[in-house]
Amino acid sequence: MTDTTKDRVLIFDTTLRDGEQSPGATMTHGEKLEIAQLLDEMGVDIIEAGFPIASEGDFAAVSEIAKRSQNSTICGLARANLKDIDRCWDAVKHAKSPRIHTFIGTSPLHRAIPNLTMDEMADRIHETVTHARNLCDNVQWSPMDATRTEWDYLKRVVGIAIKAGATTINIPDTVGYTAPVESADLIRRLIAEVDGAEDVVFATHCHNDLGMATANALAAVAGGARQIECTINGLGERAGNTALEEVVMALRVRGDIMPYTTGVDPTKIMNISRRVAAVSGFAVQFNKAIVGKNAFAHESGIHQDGMLKNAETFEIMRPEDVGLSATNLVMGKHSGRAALRAKLRDLGIELADNQLQDVFVRFKTLADRKKEVYDEDLVALVQDSGAAGDDHLQLKFLRVICGTEAPQSADLTLSVGGTDQQVTATGDGPVDAVFNAVTKLFPHHASLQLYQVHAVTEGTDAQATVSVRMEEDGKIATGQAADTDTVVASAKAYIMALNRLVIRRAKTGGDAKEVSYKDVV
Ligand code: KIV
Ligand code: ZN
Repeated sequence: MTDTTKDRVLIFDTTLRDGEQSPGATMTHGEKLEIAQLLDEMGVDIIEAGFPIASEGDFAAVSEIAKRSQNSTICGLARANLKDIDRCWDAVKHAKSPRIHTFIGTSPLHRAIPNLTMDEMADRIHETVTHARNLCDNVQWSPMDATRTEWDYLKRVVGIAIKAGATTINIPDTVGYTAPVESADLIRRLIAEVDGAEDVVFATHCHNDLGMATANALAAVAGGARQIECTINGLGERAGNTALEEVVMALRVRGDIMPYTTGVDPTKIMNISRRVAAVSGFAVQFNKAIVGKNAFAHESGIHQDGMLKNAETFEIMRPEDVGLSATNLVMGKHSGRAALRAKLRDLGIELADNQLQDVFVRFKTLADRKKEVYDEDLVALVQDSGAAGDDHLQLKFLRVICGTEAPQSADLTLSVGGTDQQVTATGDGPVDAVFNAVTKLFPHHASLQLYQVHAVTEGTDAQATVSVRMEEDGKIATGQAADTDTVVASAKAYIMALNRLVIRRAKTGGDAKEVSYKDVV
């Protein structure tokens, strides 16, 4: 229930824009729709769904998210030119509540890129915000690199944007340079000194280069900001953005000194965190606040003793508050479909009947191979969506011979475009041998940018989740898979990434130009 004695802070999630644009975090169209739906369901006020002019794919994703949105405002990003803004409007206009977010870099370093004088840039801001406001009632404007912009100029351009009709003014700390005291002070002074400031919402957008993004965002709220821009798991370029889960839980746990509420249902945090980690290929670090594997683990003897007597000894929030049920042994090979559905529901995962059937079959196989099936195993099973019947490449058979003598070798049968093909290849280790075998049957020049293995639970029979990131002609595709056999999981993840590259090649014909929000034109 919303606490009416506290000020409401709007949560603006930019996982699908700032997060997704970080190198390697590319998501597919379907994954973007899924994450947007989870954000909408968890009570995020504004979803920045993408940068519509960047590519046909971005435009399609933002339009579809706008059409499907139920509760959240859907926002798209646009640089400070009329073409970007028109394209953005064409995508977000389908939403029940659309927003255009337009920006320009205002610091000396950023002004030098489009080579505009201060006056020319001020005119551009007036023209573009006016244009956006003529299309949409809800316009956000950002002076990129605000925290390194000269104070007088920042004050001047914020005033111009407000006069031109911006309804939200976002103050980005683009390079993660500011510190909490300064962050609060900057917002406080802008609100006090810019004409019309009382009629707009001030937002804070912090990057985490010095590890201060959450502290800076909360300080900005103390200074008067009423919108926090953030991402799930703090995903984002370089060191990432303010993490949604951190600000939401900090405001809840320390409501005594930070009397603000959000509309986010915190019990949905764990589920969306796992989904974002899986689809972006960016695993969450074990000791990450709120959503890390160890965030609620109490392993030392002293801690366990205290916890048994009173959980509050070492816990300032309960695992259930963020949607985490204690790790427990769930089910065995005799458990039925109804029990599986109920358990998944407990974990915040709702599946359609056909999806449940698929997961159930794989659960039975896993239960046959693994002594104990834990919650984490089930989550990995759901996230490993398995191969689709129409995938170009499908794994049919794999046997690896490894030992102390190199090279290792892999016998592989792969269905390539519907025809089974067999090959043997060697490599420096079993995974290398498998990847070489796949490449022999499906020659490609994509480079492997990331290969990561995580044990889902403890024990030698634990499932491994493998994430793979590949790059081909500037296009990036990721693949994830889980299996009790690390080499099989590696093969499936590698094949999944290649399947996605095949789809991307077909869609773009290999020559579509994607622009970045940093291309200032
Ligand atoms: O970090 C930044 O400045 C941005 C802007 C586009 C708002 O992401
Ligand atoms: Zn940013």
